[in-house]
Amino acid sequence: MAYGRLSLVGACAAGLLLSSTAAFAQGEVEVLHWWTSGGEAKAVGELKDAYEAQGGTWVDSPIAGGGGDAAMTALRARVVAGDPPTAVQLKGPGIQEWAEQGVLADVSDVASEENWDDKLPAVLADIMKYDGEYVAAPVNIHRVDWLWANPEVLAKVDAEMPTTWDEFNAVADKLQEAGITPLAHGGQPWQDATLFEVVALGVGGPDFYRKALVELDQDALTSDTMVAVFDQLRKLRGYVDPNFSGREWNLATQMVMNGEAGFQIMGDWAKGEFLAAGQVPGEDFLCAAAPGDGFILNSDSIAFFKVRDEEQQKGEKVLASLIMSPDFQESFNLAKGSIPANENVPMDDFDHCAQTSKEDLEAAIESDSLVPSMAHEMAVPRSVRGEFLDVVTNFFNSDMSSEDAVQTLATSIDRARL
Ligand code: GAL
Repeated sequence: MAYGRLSLVGACAAGLLLSSTAAFAQGEVEVLHWWTSGGEAKAVGELKDAYEAQGGTWVDSPIAGGGGDAAMTALRARVVAGDPPTAVQLKGPGIQEWAEQGVLADVSDVASEENWDDKLPAVLADIMKYDGEYVAAPVNIHRVDWLWANPEVLAKVDAEMPTTWDEFNAVADKLQEAGITPLAHGGQPWQDATLFEVVALGVGGPDFYRKALVELDQDALTSDTMVAVFDQLRKLRGYVDPNFSGREWNLATQMVMNGEAGFQIMGDWAKGEFLAAGQVPGEDFLCAAAPGDGFILNSDSIAFFKVRDEEQQKGEKVLASLIMSPDFQESFNLAKGSIPANENVPMDDFDHCAQTSKEDLEAAIESDSLVPSMAHEMAVPRSVRGEFLDVVTNFFNSDMSSEDAVQTLATSIDRARL
């Protein structure tokens, strides 16, 4: 009997040792991110669960605040204090800016072993590299220029999904006359900037968007087209409810879900909220590209910091490989509302909104109408982005004329780019 008990105790001890060894076998990562809404939390939970299933130890560091400005402030404080997280949700130019500081770890051994270059659109592969070395792994491809609608609300005014801004304004006017909020919106700088860039693409087209919001060309910034962009933004300002100021983006999505508003103009992370609430695309909500040609790209990636701890170094490699794996790319993006960054992931399990995104992405790459999101830190340095957000938010929250907004923007950008 004693022997029996001892062998049982021995087996448990061995088991514990094995499991703890197994846990350490896959390392430990602390991940700083801002995915805290319903759909976002579900998606990041897929990454956490997948990493822990491989025996890793996941330390979660969520910083609430849509769009990530609060998270980026927290990140800077952590790095300045010499205590960076193992990994962080980071975008485009931010990856380059942190890599220039020499604080990002490269995961090129994993990337070359797994041929990431053959699995990613070239534009994305370039964004994830610094000096030719991968320092980040992309989790998704979000599209910013989406229009979300409640079909029952549109039916109340006998309206269809608009395909031009004039059609959008006409439906919005009918909703307003019926006493329904046409546009659900959260009055925060990044959300105002999201509306601005979607209108800039829709009104000006991809070439104008690139010249004005990426190349910061003064002629484009001071053009009549930019005046027309602010004119349409002024129309949108007239379609939001009195309590829009400060509202979180996912609460605006809920206004569409519950029929309080007809539309939301927001990236397809909004689809993650509809899905998390059990809503069915095409039945409970509608998705359509916002009026205009092109595709505004916003890809979330996880960048890796140089850390001394060997278990964390190991954890980074395991996490990088996991992020690019087809299973994770499918499960994460099904929940997040985006489409896989890894082009080899089949789209069979994705809904028609995601299928549309994939088709439109390929068409945009082909026709050179794929543009990087300024509002979501894919296009310009944070300092320049900050000038766009300041001018657009001031315009949205005042009676500033479009002409004054154009002049203020051009001057601010000219100063910031120096
Ligand atoms: C974006 C981010 C998305 C989404 C959104 C709202 O910048 O890329 O993943 O979370 O913010 O927080």
